Order: sequence, then C-alpha cells, then structure tokens
Amino acid sequence: MNIIAENLSKNYKRKDLLDIKVLKDIDFEIMSGQKIALTGPSGAGKSTLIHILGLMDRPTSGKVYIDGVDCFAGDDKYLCVMRKKNIGFVFQFHYLMPDFTVMENILLPVWNEKNIKFKQAQSILEKVGILHWQNHFPGELSGGEQQRAAIARALINNPQIVFADEPTGNLDRITGLEIEKLLFESSSETGSTLVLVTHNGELASKADKIIKMTDGKMSK
Ligand SMILES: Nc1ncnc2c1ncn2[C@@H]1O[C@H](COP(=O)(O)OP(=O)(O)OP(=O)(O)O)[C@@H](O)[C@H]1O
Ligand SMILES: [Mg+2]
Repeated sequence: MNIIAENLSKNYKRKDLLDIKVLKDIDFEIMSGQKIALTGPSGAGKSTLIHILGLMDRPTSGKVYIDGVDCFAGDDKYLCVMRKKNIGFVFQFHYLMPDFTVMENILLPVWNEKNIKFKQAQSILEKVGILHWQNHFPGELSGGEQQRAAIARALINNPQIVFADEPTGNLDRITGLEIEKLLFESSSETGSTLVLVTHNGELASKADKIIKMTDGKMSK
C-alpha cells in the first residue's frame, strides 16, 4: 500500500503559550513495499508524524491518502477498522500486557478469531525466534525478546504497512540491530511497506529512502 502525505500540519495547544507547530506542511509519497528510515533529532516530530500516518492521531490540517483513500475524511470508527485491517505498529517500549502470556498478547488484536489464528501466531513466533516463550509472561523475557513479541503482535493481522517508532530504543546495540533486521526481513518477505524511526545510520543506509526531519519539517 502506498502512503501520500499532503500539507500535513499538527499544532498542539499549550497553556499560556501560543500553539506550537510540531509538523509544518509536510509532503511526501511512500511507494508500496518501500522501506523508509525516518531520522532526525529528538523533538523533530517523528513520533507525531508516524502516529498520524498510522491513523492513531488526526492532523490539524492536511491529508493522508493510503492507496488513494483520504483516510481522515472518515470518522474514528472508520480509522479504527482501517488500522486493524492494514496497519501494524511497534512502539519504543513494547506495551505487552504483563498478566497475559506471550501467546495471548500476540492474539489480543484478533481475540475473536483466536482459535483460527493460533497456528499463524505460532509460526510468527517461530520466525521472530521466541516460540519457546509462548506460554510465559512478558516479565520473564529479556528486552530484546519482549520487543520480538511486540513485533509478532504487530504482524498477526498480516498488515500491509508496518510502523516502528524506535523499537530498539531500550536495547543494546547488537540486540537493537537484530530487531531492526527482523523488521526489514519481514517487510521484504511479505512485501509490506515499512516506516522505521531509527538513529542507526548503518541500517538507515539500507532503507530504500531516508526521510530526515528537523523542527517539524522534512529536510533533504
Ligand atoms: N500531546 C502533546 N502536547 C503538547 N506537545 C506535544 C505533545 N506531543 C508531542 N509534543 C511536542 O511535539 C514535539 C515533537 O514531539 P515528537 O514526540 O513527535 O518528537 P520526536 O521526533 O519523536 O522525538 P524523540 O526522538 O525524542 O522521540 C516536541 O516538542 C513535543 O514536546
Ligand atoms: Mg519519538
């Protein structure tokens, strides 16, 4: 699926301050199946941008087209369906539910069909290398393993677009590289579009395109 951002802006209101402009007239196109590295200094607006592209937040103005569909013309219910059908999200911190096993966490997004999805969940867990942890709780896993589980959860819907917001932020360099490699490989295998926020120059150079943000704008 391709993504087009047109004149995207996002302002936040702050007490006693003028609106702060976090995204300023952003335009770009991401082609279907492309792997994009999104880089830029802290506070540049990277998380804000991918939350909007991932339909978790609305822009103040501008449009996001996914496969030609003007997503924010739809109501919140539409965004929710669109997200569930097409989008996987991996956060900096894994956000696994501590009282559910790894398998239950993976199946949470598809709980109504959990019996049908069980085999697929096992095969994804095998692919990310933590099948042996399926009946354990997240707290028993290392940081890298927890992040692998979060990736498995993002992939259970066979999303055509995957967003990952510094998924390696809490990991050591080697483990972080493995996690990012896993996301790249999975995107190549399934042909899904990947937008990865990363500070890793080595990996960014392997992306099809690098989008660099500074102060709410795209820089070349
Ligand atoms: N809900 C909010 N209310 C007000 N300001 C916000 C809100 N969310 C983000 N901001 C501000 O927007 C700016 C961009 O934040 P954002 O989280 O998108 O940056 P980032 O590029 O992801 O940074 P980092 O690399 O540190 O994660 C920051 O100045 C931040 O303080
Ligand atoms: Mg961020």
